[in-house]
Amino acid sequence: MVEISTSILNVEKKDAMKVFYGLEVAHTDYFHIDIMDGKFVPKNTAELMKEYTTSIKQMSNIPLDVHLMVENVKEYVDEYLAFEPNIITFHVEAMSSKEEVINMINYIKQNNVKVGLSVKPNTKIEDIYEYLPNIHLCLVMTVEPGLGGQKLIPETLEKVKKLKEYIEENNIDIDIEVDGGINSETIEQAKNAGANIFVAGSAIVNKENYEEAIDNLRNEKG
Ligand code: DX5
Ligand code: ZN
Repeated sequence: MVEISTSILNVEKKDAMKVFYGLEVAHTDYFHIDIMDGKFVPKNTAELMKEYTTSIKQMSNIPLDVHLMVENVKEYVDEYLAFEPNIITFHVEAMSSKEEVINMINYIKQNNVKVGLSVKPNTKIEDIYEYLPNIHLCLVMTVEPGLGGQKLIPETLEKVKKLKEYIEENNIDIDIEVDGGINSETIEQAKNAGANIFVAGSAIVNKENYEEAIDNLRNEKG
């Protein structure tokens, strides 16, 4: 099933409540929360995202899709468990050993939250194959993490294709999410490559009519 996860990274503080309410009535499938610690990526969004997530939880039951772009994964997992998210995704590049990756996957699952593992554009998709049977989602970054409003890197969709073939051959039931530079054109290519959850920030929140923007992305052929 095609699902749209709206990134609230670039929402301005003064518009925040209006935008969140607008996304709620426009039926975004998820709120995508981009947490950056100023270490894993240069920007720091930790305080702002905590504030935004608190506001969203007060007015919406729409599931939260938490994307941790942080070095200290455990610290932020613990902070976000309190918001009862649907998915917590962390980066394989943030972990220093296989054991650490496996322990974090298990820790998130023990807390009844779905686990996602993410790869940056220069990380080989094969690097995460061994974890696939134990996770729920693989987030293939289609831009370098750190900023909204960038252009999708076409080579990243080759990784999505490879992953899709691999999970089909091996009968692994997992969602493939893409994040960065998704708009009405690139979403077609991403759908063809095999993704089924699409993060979009600018392509939704910069539009006047969120419902139309979300429906268009959902219904775009792939
Ligand atoms: C990038 C973030 C993305 C990004 C998406 O580091 O993970 O979620 O904000 O924004 P757009 O859709 O504008 O590329
Ligand atoms: Zn993201």
